[in-house]
Amino acid sequence: MNDWSSLDDTYILPTYSRLPIAIAEAKGNTLIDTKGKSYLDLFTGLAVNILGHSHPTVLKALHEQADRYLHISNKFLNTPAISLAKRLVENSIPGKIFFTNSGAEASETMVKLIHKWSQDDGKGRSGFIVMKRSFHGRTLGAVRLTRQANVYQDFPQPDIPVYEVDPEDIDGLRRLCEQERPAAILAEPILGAGGVQPVPLDTLREMEQLCRTHGMLLCMDEIQTGIGRTGTLFAYQHAGIEPDLILFAKGVGGGLPLGGVIAGHQLVEMFQPGDHGTTFAPSPLSAALGNAVLDVLLEDGGLEMGRHHAEHLWDRLRELQEKYPHIISSLSGRGMMLGIRTNLSPQATAQLQQTLLARGFLVDIAQQTVIRLLPPLTLTVEESDQFTQQLDTLFAQMPVK
Ligand SMILES: Cc1ncc(COP(=O)(O)O)c(C=O)c1O
Repeated sequence: MNDWSSLDDTYILPTYSRLPIAIAEAKGNTLIDTKGKSYLDLFTGLAVNILGHSHPTVLKALHEQADRYLHISNKFLNTPAISLAKRLVENSIPGKIFFTNSGAEASETMVKLIHKWSQDDGKGRSGFIVMKRSFHGRTLGAVRLTRQANVYQDFPQPDIPVYEVDPEDIDGLRRLCEQERPAAILAEPILGAGGVQPVPLDTLREMEQLCRTHGMLLCMDEIQTGIGRTGTLFAYQHAGIEPDLILFAKGVGGGLPLGGVIAGHQLVEMFQPGDHGTTFAPSPLSAALGNAVLDVLLEDGGLEMGRHHAEHLWDRLRELQEKYPHIISSLSGRGMMLGIRTNLSPQATAQLQQTLLARGFLVDIAQQTVIRLLPPLTLTVEESDQFTQQLDTLFAQMPVK
C-alpha cells in the first residue's frame, strides 16, 4: 500500500473498491502512474474519455473558454451551451435540451418530465417499463429505475410504477404494454453495467411501434452508448428509430461533468420556469469541451475513425474467440463498447483483470465474468494488437478443462 492508498482509506468513504494506483498523467490512450508505469486505457474513465486523454482540440477549447469565464449561472444566456444544444438536437431528434451535471441527474430530470407529461397528455399513464439488469444511476429516482439488486438494495424508493422485462422477451414487453398503463419504455440500447448486452435492433423498433400504438413515450438511456461510442452519435440510430427522449452524459463533456435530456416535441412544453433547475449545469467550460468533442466527431471524421479502429479490434477479438472457444463464449456490444463473455469463474476473471493490469492494460469487468472494454475511438491498430497479443499469451497459459 502506498501513502495515497492509506490517505484514501482514511478520508474518502469506501463506495468503490479501488485499484491501488495513483495516476500522475494521462496522454493519448495511456495512463501513467506516480511510479512511472504506463497503462493502455481500455476503460476511458468509465466511458468518459471518448477521444482519449489530452486531445488537442479538447485542450484548445479548454484553454480558450478558461480565459473567457468558468461560470455564469442560468440567469444569463450561456452561449457555449446553446451552441452545443443546437448541435445535439440537429443530430438526434427535434426537441429541446435540459443540461445536467451527471447521468443520474439526467435520469431524475426524465422522471420529473415524464411525470408532468403523465398528468397532461399522458392521460393518466404513469411509470416506466424498464429492462432487466438495466442501470440508470444511483440517486433515488434513478435507483428506482435501475434493475440491479446490489444497487437498489433496501434504499427508500419513490413511488414510481416500474415494470421489468427481459430485453429478449418481446412477448413479455407486448403484454406489459397491453395490460398495464405505463407512460414510457426506458432502455439502454446496449446494457452497459448489465453485462454489455445489446437490445436487439428489432426489439428497439418494436418498442417504438408499441409506444406509437399505445400512446407511450420511448426513452433511450444513451449515457454510456452515446456520443460516438458505438459508431454513430447515438446508438439508437443503428435501429433507424426516433425516440421521444434521450439521456446523455459521460463523453459529452470531454472529461468534465455534463449530461442532460433531449426532450422530443411532445415534451418541450412540460417544464415551465421554476419546475426544474440546477446551479452548475450547464457549465460553460464543460459545454465548450462538448462542442470540441462534436467538432472532432462530426466535422473532423471522428466517428468514421472510431468505426475503423473498432472494426480492427473486433476482428482481432473474433480471432481469439475462434482460437479459445473454451475461454470466450461470445463477444457482445457494438463499436467501442465491447463485452468479452468468458467461460471463466468470477475469481478467474478477476485474476485475469489483475494480470492485465500488471502488464499495463486497464479493462473492466461487468456481471462478474464479462470483460468490459470501453476504449477510446482513438485506439490505434497497434494498440489493439498489443492488447489482443497480450490476451493471446495469457489465454494460451490457461488450462483447457
Ligand atoms: C446507462 C447509464 N445510465 C446512467 C448512468 C449514471 O450516470 P452517472 O454515473 O453520471 O450518474 C450510467 C453510469 O454508468 C450509465 O452507464
